[in-house]
Amino acid sequence: MKKINVTTSATMFDDFSQLSSDDQLLMNKAIEARKKAYAPYSKFNVGVALLLGNGEIILGNNQENAAYPSGMCAERVAIWKAGSEYPNMKVKKIAITAASETSTVNKPVGPCGACRQTLSEYEINQKEPIEIIFMGEVGKIVKTESLLSLLPFSFDSSYL
Ligand code: THU
Repeated sequence: MKKINVTTSATMFDDFSQLSSDDQLLMNKAIEARKKAYAPYSKFNVGVALLLGNGEIILGNNQENAAYPSGMCAERVAIWKAGSEYPNMKVKKIAITAASETSTVNKPVGPCGACRQTLSEYEINQKEPIEIIFMGEVGKIVKTESLLSLLPFSFDSSYL
């Protein structure tokens, strides 16, 4: 028996101005999408902008429901929109931002576990990493070079 260390890496940016202009553009689209979130229950608005290989940008935001579990996260709304409209199109990067109506979200908000799992399916299938950039409303921004770097020991179709 031995203990192993699983490591990952990410780039931390102090603020929005440190992002490349392409990443700023994508994040600005995510902010636009965030403002259209339907989150009357949590008041936690999440926006996503996803850049496809053909240059198209797909937007998504969280869609809540009075029957709480019937709601859906912004990331899955966006990736399923992309997958259904553009099957087999590669996803280059995904920008994510969250803002609360009750407090200022000042730390980076990464995708939840279920969204990581969902996104991993697309990254594995396309055989190319998807860059993930995430922030709150203000404050530091995290960028990872791939989705799988956020999901060690993940489950995929090779187990089936
Ligand atoms: N939410 C997302 O949209 N993405 C995440 O990765 C985490 C959580 C949404 C779900 C719900 O509408 C609200 O944020 C509070 O959990």
